[in-house]
Amino acid sequence: MYKDVIDFIKKLYGGKDPVILHEPVFLGNEKQYINDCIDTTFVSYVGKYVTKFEEMTAKYTESKYAIAIVNGTAALQIALQVSGVKPNDEVITQPLTFVATVNAISHCGAKPVFVDVDTATMGMSPEKLKDWLSKNVKYDRTTRKTFNLSTGNSISAIVPVHTFGFPCYIDEIVEIGNHYNIPVIEDSAESLGSFFKNKHTGTFGLAGIISYNGNKSITTGGGGMIITDNEKFAEKVKHITTTAKVPHRWEYIHDEIGYNYRMTNITAAIGVAQMEYFDKIISNKRNTAELYSDFFKETNIEFVCEPINSRSNYWLNCIRFADRNQRDEFLEETNSNGVMTRPIWRLMNKLEMYKNCQRGTLDNAQWLEERCVNIPSGFRNTYNS
Ligand SMILES: Cc1ncc(COP(=O)(O)O)c(C=O)c1O
Repeated sequence: MYKDVIDFIKKLYGGKDPVILHEPVFLGNEKQYINDCIDTTFVSYVGKYVTKFEEMTAKYTESKYAIAIVNGTAALQIALQVSGVKPNDEVITQPLTFVATVNAISHCGAKPVFVDVDTATMGMSPEKLKDWLSKNVKYDRTTRKTFNLSTGNSISAIVPVHTFGFPCYIDEIVEIGNHYNIPVIEDSAESLGSFFKNKHTGTFGLAGIISYNGNKSITTGGGGMIITDNEKFAEKVKHITTTAKVPHRWEYIHDEIGYNYRMTNITAAIGVAQMEYFDKIISNKRNTAELYSDFFKETNIEFVCEPINSRSNYWLNCIRFADRNQRDEFLEETNSNGVMTRPIWRLMNKLEMYKNCQRGTLDNAQWLEERCVNIPSGFRNTYNS
C-alpha cells in the first residue's frame, strides 16, 4: 500500500537498506581534533575545544554565553535549578515531548504540570498556557511569585519544547511568563539551527538548552549546552557544574553542593569539528524536507512544514495520517521493508510515573499522538550543497 513512499525514501538515501531514522555523519576534522586531545593530554573538561565549542555555539545562536554540559538532560536540570526551581515547586511543560524534558524537572524535585500543544508547531500552545494559568494560579504581589491555587505550590518555570526542531510560538509564551513572573527555560534540545522570527530558538527565555545526542542534527556522542544572555546565570551554571569549586591555584574548596556535569575536551573536539560544517548539514536537511514536501503533495499523507515566521532545522521530518489505523499500517509496512519510521512519543501524562500530574485539556497532543509519524531525516550523502 505504501510501496511508493518506501521506494521514494530508499532512493532519497541512495538505495540504503535499511534507511535508519537519523544516522550521525563525521565528515570533517573529528578524528584529527580527538587525536589532538590525546596527544596534548587535555582529555577532561579543561581544554581549548570546550572553550571553542562554547564560543562557536554562542556566536551561531547569538547568545552572550554558552556553557558546555555533559548532556541535554543535565543541562535542562541545571538551567531549571539555577532559574530558581526548588523541590516541590511546579514546572509547566507539554505532554508531547521526549521523556528527558519531564525527567529533568523531576530531577530538581519539582512536579511537572502539562498544558497542551499547538497542532501547527507541536510545541506548547500559548492559548492553552494562558487559559490554564488564568484558571489555576494566583500571583502574589509581595513575593512576586505565582502559586497553584489547588496545591499552594510555587509555579517556578515554564518549559516549552521546539518539537522535532519546529519552533513553537515562543515570543507569546515568554510574554505570558513575564506577566506571571515565571521564567521560561526553552527545551531547544532538538532545534539547533532553527529560528523563530530570525532569532535562534533557545534565546527568547531566560535560557535554552541544546542536546548533541547521537541522533541530533549534529552530535558529540552525548553532550549538551546551556545558552543564555544573563551573565549571573551563566556564571552560576559554570560554577555548580564544575563541583562548585572556588577558583584557587592549589586549594580545594567547594562552596555548595555542585555537580560534575561539564563536557569533556574530547567530546567538545567532536562538536567543534561538526560545527565547522553545520551550515552544510542544515542545508542538506532542508533540501530533504523540500523533496519530501513535494512528494507528499501527490499523496493523501500530510507532510508537516515549518510553521509561520519560522525556519526549521527539520531535525526529524514528520507526516500525519487521517487516523491511528492508517498510521499503524504505515509503521508496520515501512518497518518491515527497510525504512525505519516511528510514532511520536507516548504522551508523558500516560507514562506510569507522570500519570497523576496536574494537567489541562490535552486534546491536541492526543490528536497528534494518534496521527504523527517521523520518517528518515539524516544527512544525505547523495545531495551536494
Ligand atoms: C526534547 C528533548 N529534551 C531533552 C533531551 C535530552 O537530551 P540528552 O539526550 O542530550 O540528555 C532530548 C534528547 O535527547 C530531547 O529530544
